Amino acid sequence: MNMIFDTHSHYDDKAFDEDRDTLLTNLFENGVCAVVNQGTDVGTSRLGLELAEKYDRVFAAVGLHPECLTEKSISDLEKIKDLAKHPKAVAIGEIGLDYYYDIPKVLQKQIFTAQLDIAKDLDMPVNIHDREAHGDMLDILKKYSPRGILHCFSGSVEMAKDIIKLGMYIGIGGVLTFKNAVKIVEVVRNIPLESIVLETDCPYLAPVPFRGKRNDSRYIEYTAQRIAKIKGITVEKVLETTKYNAEYVYNINVKQ
Ligand code: NI
Repeated sequence: MNMIFDTHSHYDDKAFDEDRDTLLTNLFENGVCAVVNQGTDVGTSRLGLELAEKYDRVFAAVGLHPECLTEKSISDLEKIKDLAKHPKAVAIGEIGLDYYYDIPKVLQKQIFTAQLDIAKDLDMPVNIHDREAHGDMLDILKKYSPRGILHCFSGSVEMAKDIIKLGMYIGIGGVLTFKNAVKIVEVVRNIPLESIVLETDCPYLAPVPFRGKRNDSRYIEYTAQRIAKIKGITVEKVLETTKYNAEYVYNINVKQ
């Protein structure tokens, strides 16, 4: 049975250039029921939609990633809004704040909130990136209260609970399986499975035992096993509930 729903992937990445078609075809015969490819700029958002046109079980989020912003990004907002009207566009993503990189915070907040407005206008969920920006992120989310997912969650248990109170979901990926993972293990232990969705962020962040290798959606199995162990439940229960959550948040129904 195909129960793995990968809510955050980058199959347009050049790491998949050599075997993208074989890999995607095999995924859907090997436990994966759906993937949502995330855009990072206009080009990758388009590539995601092309993959979604080609494969039933691929869906696309379109958006401008904070790492990819320039002054010209403001003029790309209209293009993102147009792409979001594609029938297989299910979310605005990957959008957010990244204070690790030296990109002006004012510009980041401007583009992020403009995309939250686009999502609201089109009644779509968002997929959010938050790196070293927890304070500003929480302020903005409380103000805009979008529907959606906070991906690759790296905050505290308290922040996770605040996000859940807003009705949002917490995206959990391979980082959970890393030997030095402490904070995220506590988060998983202290939030309900009903607020968790699974993700890869592939080609990056492969779970143990594939850490450092190219990631793909099949490896979500290892992240699910870790959650099952932390919560003392079965892997099937983890996959089934997170699949349901992902279908709900993206407003799609996928075949098993
Ligand atoms: Ni990503």
